Amino acid sequence: NKKKIIIDTDPGHDDAIALMLAILSKELKVLGITTVAGNVPLELTTINALKICDLLHNKEIEVFSGAEKPLKRKLITAEHVHGKTGLDGPYLPEPISKKNRDNAHDFIINSLEKFDSKTITICALGPLTNIAKVIVEKPHIAKKIKEIILMGGSFFEGGNITPVSEFNIFVDPESAKIVFNSEIPITMFPLDVTHKVLANKEFINSFKKFKNPLGDVVFSLLEFFSRYDVKKYKFLGPPLHDPNVIIYLLNPNFYVGKKLNVEIETSSELTLGMTVIDWWQVTNRKKNANFIYDVDTKSVLSLIQKILSNF
Ligand code: RIB
Ligand code: CA
Repeated sequence: NKKKIIIDTDPGHDDAIALMLAILSKELKVLGITTVAGNVPLELTTINALKICDLLHNKEIEVFSGAEKPLKRKLITAEHVHGKTGLDGPYLPEPISKKNRDNAHDFIINSLEKFDSKTITICALGPLTNIAKVIVEKPHIAKKIKEIILMGGSFFEGGNITPVSEFNIFVDPESAKIVFNSEIPITMFPLDVTHKVLANKEFINSFKKFKNPLGDVVFSLLEFFSRYDVKKYKFLGPPLHDPNVIIYLLNPNFYVGKKLNVEIETSSELTLGMTVIDWWQVTNRKKNANFIYDVDTKSVLSLIQKILSNF
């Protein structure tokens, strides 16, 4: 039986590829897609999720929109990385499919009530506002979550939105603190590992050879996405942050992790949103996350190509 997942996302170029992988994978049952404000405002992240669903001729997975702003702060977006629409690059028609009327965190709560405990995995690809709302509103139902696999945080690698903070955590540090203190099992994909999964030229060009519209869209998404990061980091190509969450579910053995303590800075001006990692266990704080820090990049990239090629 398939692994049941709910994807919480702020598409976003890398989110879009993660959504494609999840929808096309035969081993995953996507119960629903919930959207959150992050890379771009909620209206656009929701439209973008619907655009990807239409592109894949998806008929059964529904999209539920959630938080339009962080729990306690004003929204910070990343148009500089993802463009005005949040999915600049490819031509993607206005979506035909409509979002569901239910709110994202209500959908997550209803799903947890409907299915057996510890059978649903939450894949969080954006700021953690929707997840935090579930935990705050229905703590005992939130305990039914099997695992939260999230892209977020950073330690040895430094930050990408401030010198020390990664974007998803920085946008809503209060929500991140709630999630990391929830005692729900967490596997986190920080920049320490996602900066090792770079979409090099050969990988990007391989999508031009696809004989399907998906290849063209992925090619132009990656072309656009490489614009900003390659200039900034002098990388060989853009880091594929969010797809790692889905690939991990399909092949955890591609990754190396370490159970350790993660705390979130929520008050300092200088280090707001920093994920403080007790790597050397100098405290006796709870080991509340599996911190992924190494990866077999080649295997990840070829599995991404394989899944997208059989569209
Ligand atoms: O810092 C990278 C993360 O922020 C990715 O999830 C990207 O999509 C943005 O949400
Ligand atoms: Ca994202």
